[in-house]
Amino acid sequence: MALLQVEKMTKEFGGLRAVDSLDLTIEPGQIFGLIGPNGAGKSTAFNCIAGAFAPTSGKITFDGEVINGEKPWNLCKSGLARTFQIVKPFASKDVLYNVTVASFSTTNSRKHAEEKAMAVLESLNFADKKNVLAGNLTIADRKRLEIAKALATEPKLLLLDEVMAGLRPNEVDEMVSIFQDLRKQGITIFIIEHIMRAIMALSDHIVVIQFGKKIAEGSPAEIANDERVIKAYLGDDYVVA
Ligand SMILES: Nc1ncnc2c1ncn2[C@@H]1O[C@H](COP(=O)(O)OP(=O)(O)OP(=O)(O)O)[C@@H](O)[C@H]1O
Ligand SMILES: [Mg+2]
Repeated sequence: MALLQVEKMTKEFGGLRAVDSLDLTIEPGQIFGLIGPNGAGKSTAFNCIAGAFAPTSGKITFDGEVINGEKPWNLCKSGLARTFQIVKPFASKDVLYNVTVASFSTTNSRKHAEEKAMAVLESLNFADKKNVLAGNLTIADRKRLEIAKALATEPKLLLLDEVMAGLRPNEVDEMVSIFQDLRKQGITIFIIEHIMRAIMALSDHIVVIQFGKKIAEGSPAEIANDERVIKAYLGDDYVVA
């Protein structure tokens, strides 16, 4: 059974159709990439799936349940977690506090929540920053905090919206290996990313959207060689490594 199935999902803002009849299917254990030009509707698709707002029409099935219009906190409890493109931590609280708050979605015990938060921080090589105020973190570490908060909710499916934007090349490499480890732990990953070398290295399957519509899907190699994708997004000088 697919972990996430999106069928004919459409989201309109007034007259603008930001997502247009989108179909996609994510199998358990996959790393599934979503790419496309700025304004293509990628974050809007995430927002509909993660319950920030209901799609105008279409059907979203997660882990066998139809979840259209379900609230984010209920989705989170059923194992669907997301990061935000614009990060919003409690800036005046430290890293451990921010992650512990997220841990409370699966436990009522402060001790358990804190232990889980520490385990997540360690898995992200982030434990050394546990006492740093979120507002004082670098961009890279704010992104890492976003991922830590999502992981602390123990997701089956993790939605990552441009978590590598603004990272240095070595930081991108570290993130790529962190996501590969998460997948080995059984977490399915749905990732939006503009850094091609990362998305190509990570993904089993990629969907490309433009003006809200799917224009291609396939393996990274298929996508990199697709005329329409090169024209709409990658550019003629894109060369497959
Ligand atoms: N809450 C909203 N209200 C009205 N219009 C919106 C809203 N959110 C997004 N849009 C519009 O929907 C379209 C798709 O935006 P979206 O943020 O989903 O694109 P994106 O693919 O994530 O782009 P980027 O790569 O720049 O993050 C854009 O035209 C955007 O202006
Ligand atoms: Mg976006």
